[in-house]
Amino acid sequence: MSTATLPQKRSDIAYRPVGQFEETRFEKIHNVIFDSSSKASILVAQEIAELVRKKQEKGLPCVLGLATGSSPIRVYEELVRMHQEEGLSFANVVTFNLDEYLPMEKDNRQSYWYFMHEHLFNHVDIPEENINIPDGTLTGDTIIPYCLAYEQKIMDAGGLDFQLLGIGRTGHIGFNEPGSHRNSGTRVITLDHITRVDAAPSFLGIDNVPRRAITMGIATVQSAKRVVLLGWGQNKADIIKKTVEGEISSEVPATYLQEHTNCTFVLDNGAGSKLTRNKTPWLVDESLQWTETLTAKAVLWLSITLGKSILSLTDKDYNDNGMSGLLALQDSYDLNIKMFNRLQHTITGWPGGKPNADDTSRPERATPEKKRVIIFSPHPDDDVISMGGTFDRLIEQGHEVHVAYQTSGNIAVTDTEALKFAEISKNINPSKEVDDLITSIKSKTESSIDTLEIRKLKGSIRRSESYAATRYLNLADEYVHFLDLPFYETGTVKKNSLTQDDIDIMVDIIDKVKPHQIYAAGDLADPHGTHSVCLDAVFAALETLKTASYMKDCWVWLYRGAWHEWDIHEIEMAVPMSPAQVLKKRSAIFCHQSQKDDVMFQGDDTREFWMRAEERNKNTADKYRKLGLAEYAAMEGFVRHHFMSS
Ligand code: F6R
Repeated sequence: MSTATLPQKRSDIAYRPVGQFEETRFEKIHNVIFDSSSKASILVAQEIAELVRKKQEKGLPCVLGLATGSSPIRVYEELVRMHQEEGLSFANVVTFNLDEYLPMEKDNRQSYWYFMHEHLFNHVDIPEENINIPDGTLTGDTIIPYCLAYEQKIMDAGGLDFQLLGIGRTGHIGFNEPGSHRNSGTRVITLDHITRVDAAPSFLGIDNVPRRAITMGIATVQSAKRVVLLGWGQNKADIIKKTVEGEISSEVPATYLQEHTNCTFVLDNGAGSKLTRNKTPWLVDESLQWTETLTAKAVLWLSITLGKSILSLTDKDYNDNGMSGLLALQDSYDLNIKMFNRLQHTITGWPGGKPNADDTSRPERATPEKKRVIIFSPHPDDDVISMGGTFDRLIEQGHEVHVAYQTSGNIAVTDTEALKFAEISKNINPSKEVDDLITSIKSKTESSIDTLEIRKLKGSIRRSESYAATRYLNLADEYVHFLDLPFYETGTVKKNSLTQDDIDIMVDIIDKVKPHQIYAAGDLADPHGTHSVCLDAVFAALETLKTASYMKDCWVWLYRGAWHEWDIHEIEMAVPMSPAQVLKKRSAIFCHQSQKDDVMFQGDDTREFWMRAEERNKNTADKYRKLGLAEYAAMEGFVRHHFMSS
């Protein structure tokens, strides 16, 4: 990326991020898409820094509207770095935060006051009196005059020069939930259920999430001279599409930004993936370069959209759906057969390769016949949830399978569950340590952090459950590794960043096993979540080991978790399961009893993990059937990661 600033308008052609098409027929908000949210955040921070400096030169205050949540964290990190290393001063900066929960004390770890100080204010030279964050302790009649005064204070400061936003899955900006009026100002709002579900993990359960908040209004946000909205991860893809391409509606408050004349959405590939120009570019761009991947994506889309098998697609189907360019190169008969074969070749019951078989059109190599395999599982149950069927086959087919649990998963065990095990332990072998443990579990409050002992207990509950599952799949204990990566061990939902210690542990296990195959979780739904940090740890270890001779024979396969599945055109290996294998996989998932019935971090899907996994695997099989291939009960899908060329 050559330029340091974000483009302010569409015609800013000097700025051309990766994957950006000129064609934006369906789009009503200027947006730019980046490969990495981190790089994008740095550019946003640079734009803010530039503004702060310009204002400084003129001796003027710089008025920033700021957001909290996971989206802006990297921007704040970069601003702090610029302050510490490049002398960027915040002495002339006045800030107004978008919102605060109600009720909420400042010193509560979940307060936005706490968040802003932790991520930004404590590390820069902003005068305390220049910081404005709605007061979550107000009650009754004091709130309305306070909100009016907040608006007035923004105006008195000269209005917002720059407003940073995230977007909620409801389409909220600030906490302007669906139903918000375009003329709304700072006020009290009742939070949407989805918003509370999304906040639940940080509050250790939805019941602890406040029901109300004070938020700047839509009109307050719109009054800013410049607005930048950050959107990261596939979780945001649907709402970004609705906001950028849909009609303006109070049901999706962020659509009001279509009326702002200086607004940019800064997205990563995941968040931008459902925009028409990315999802179905053939509908907007006549002069597409038809690569093999794009062709597969288009043909499978056409087949599924029209409800016809691949082999039944006609010239007319292609021509009517923006794909006449494809037919210029080959007729539909040849194209259909080519795409059918491509898909057919992804299916294999031999995920470790089929011994003594011609492997030219199989997803995996036939040799070596017995492979060494590492399955990296971010939490202690992702292995069976996401690839239990394939795991089972690899063992049955005689490969040396290792499973490496990257994190202890202790945070997802409830106190009730921990107490149960502590009491059992006390009954068998009473001791002061266990008594202390029981007392510390019982005396926990909503916001207290688990002690090291409680974490150990919770982690060992998950270890025992993992052993139950791996033993059930006939894997000897010596092949089961618990890495307990340090980045995870904070005792809270918020994790540390990856450090060299984490990467060294990953490198170590790979170097010991010298695998021919690595399986890793390729979830990118939440770019700041544990799965994605665990994937970064895998990638960092691969990078370190690139030059090791055994790595030339190592293939890396990415699976997806309980949250979402690969698109069908992406799948490079599909491992079918019989009805009996589906049940076996279910039983393996059941071994993780602390995660059954009462899942702590389940998002807005109230089903247990085994149900989600079964549905995903059945859906994949269904799609293959609808595309005209054989009908299986279920399928697990994998994408190969070519790390040597990355
Ligand atoms: C935060 C705020 C919210 C968040 C939005 C996205 O001050 O007002 O609108 O920006 O909920 O949250 P994250 O970034 O956590 O996905």
